[in-house]
Amino acid sequence: MKIIIAENYNHMSEIAARLISKVIIEKPCATLGLATGTSPIGTYRLLIDNYEKGILSFDKINTVNLDEYVGLDFDNEQSYHYFMNDNLFSHVNIPKENVHIPNGLGNDLKGNCKDYDEILKKYPRDLQLLGLGGNGHIGFNEPGTPFKSFTHIVDLTERTIKDNSRLFSDPKDVPKQAITMGIMEICRAKKIILLASGKSKADAVYAMVSGDVTENCPASVLQLHNDATLIIDKDAASKLDRNFMTE
Ligand code: GLP
Repeated sequence: MKIIIAENYNHMSEIAARLISKVIIEKPCATLGLATGTSPIGTYRLLIDNYEKGILSFDKINTVNLDEYVGLDFDNEQSYHYFMNDNLFSHVNIPKENVHIPNGLGNDLKGNCKDYDEILKKYPRDLQLLGLGGNGHIGFNEPGTPFKSFTHIVDLTERTIKDNSRLFSDPKDVPKQAITMGIMEICRAKKIILLASGKSKADAVYAMVSGDVTENCPASVLQLHNDATLIIDKDAASKLDRNFMTE
């Protein structure tokens, strides 16, 4: 694991955008695994800036997203389909057919999971961007998820529902289930970048970096990946007890 400690959220976003831009410039037809949540929003803004300046093009890029809530229409503002359009896709020149996000709608969710695994087989990731749940989850792989998991339906934990309720006008509206890419597929990406900022992530960062590799902390699996970079700000790094590289 390479650990970069950033001064703050903006600095974290700048470092991440620089690394992702490098991947896109070196391989204009790269497949990017993308994440939702507050953590990557600043990074997406900077990628949009680079696109507007003519530094990046997304015309040959393919994307696969980590997860989606069950039961939210794609045009629901809380859905991850909406989030990705709003925060990235509608601002860059990515063809619609190159975008892939799990489908949490319909009566055959298991079938949707299988279909998504077929997509993941077809689009091996050059880079996977991740956020970090306060309980150590990656994607929506909650503690206890087998490291060998593929795309599956998740019953969200109380902690995750509570954490994510800040984004809903009524906490009761937070879906109780989601579909997520499994840990096995997340780890297949050539390169992984995980973002975490703020004190609320400090315990999870500590467990991910300094704890055992255990399914009780899904993000700890990154200790086993050969090209995982954690970009975390000082607050998120505040419980780490070793001296790590800073930028
Ligand atoms: C959600 C998402 C995760 C994300 C996590 C952290 O649960 N499913 O993919 O990493 O929240 O979100 P945030 O970046 O808002 O802290």
